[in-house]
Amino acid sequence: MNRCVEPELLDELPAQDPRALRSRSDLRRVNALMGNAGVIARALLDEPGVRSTRQLVDLGAGDGTFMLNVAKRLRPAWTNVEVTLVDRRDIVNARTHREFETLTWSSRSVAADVFDWLEHTTEQRVDWVIANLFLHHFSDAALGRLLQLVSGRANGFAACEPRRYPAALRASRWLWLLGCNQVTRHDAVASVRAGFAGPELSALWPGNGDWQLCEEAAGLFSHRFVARLRASAPVTPAQASHG
Ligand SMILES: C[S@@+](CC[C@H](N)C(=O)[O-])C[C@H]1O[C@@H](n2cnc3c(N)ncnc32)[C@H](O)[C@@H]1O
Repeated sequence: MNRCVEPELLDELPAQDPRALRSRSDLRRVNALMGNAGVIARALLDEPGVRSTRQLVDLGAGDGTFMLNVAKRLRPAWTNVEVTLVDRRDIVNARTHREFETLTWSSRSVAADVFDWLEHTTEQRVDWVIANLFLHHFSDAALGRLLQLVSGRANGFAACEPRRYPAALRASRWLWLLGCNQVTRHDAVASVRAGFAGPELSALWPGNGDWQLCEEAAGLFSHRFVARLRASAPVTPAQASHG
């Protein structure tokens, strides 16, 4: 299957449109079915060494509930985490922020295009950037630029995306069985067609030997990509993380 990127309906609907609200709730169930929060949490827990404060950024974070589910899996090992949820839609509600607080995490949402934010933020380099069901929105050319920007902003990057292969495409056509609406059913098929297989993201990551890369199938339907800055890699003082 060749990679094919096409517009998704959820991206085009107003945030408060009932079909969009319903589709975001479907997405929570789809994420649970795919086991994506566990996939990302395991990548982060594999990190050697223990740090008391960490900074995380979630790109295309949606309503923040995916990151919250990752946070629940990282507790109690990770406390005092500062998480930034970046999405072009400002849809993280107060309850979700409060739930982060109960885990001793601080959360803030930023309504911005991720390219603009990564290019212009004046914030220091963070420990991890994560992305879930997000990278597949972009063409290879745009992804190359996105990954270049991420590599300049983080010591680690973990992404979980649809796995592009016939069984996942077939499964995506059966989401009506979970009660998913027409928006979710359309976007699920489009997401698998735009998903990833083999070392496609590794090939787009800026390759200068400073990064350790791992890209593989995860579970039945997911594709995981993890990039970690090697301990020996030089980090410019302006980019050094605090923590
Ligand atoms: C399929 S949803 C995934 C949301 C979340 N990661 C999850 O797993 O529930 C993709 C999200 O990416 C956001 N998005 C798409 N393109 C974006 C861009 N260029 N900058 C910021 N957010 C974007 C959409 O608003 C949407 O919330």
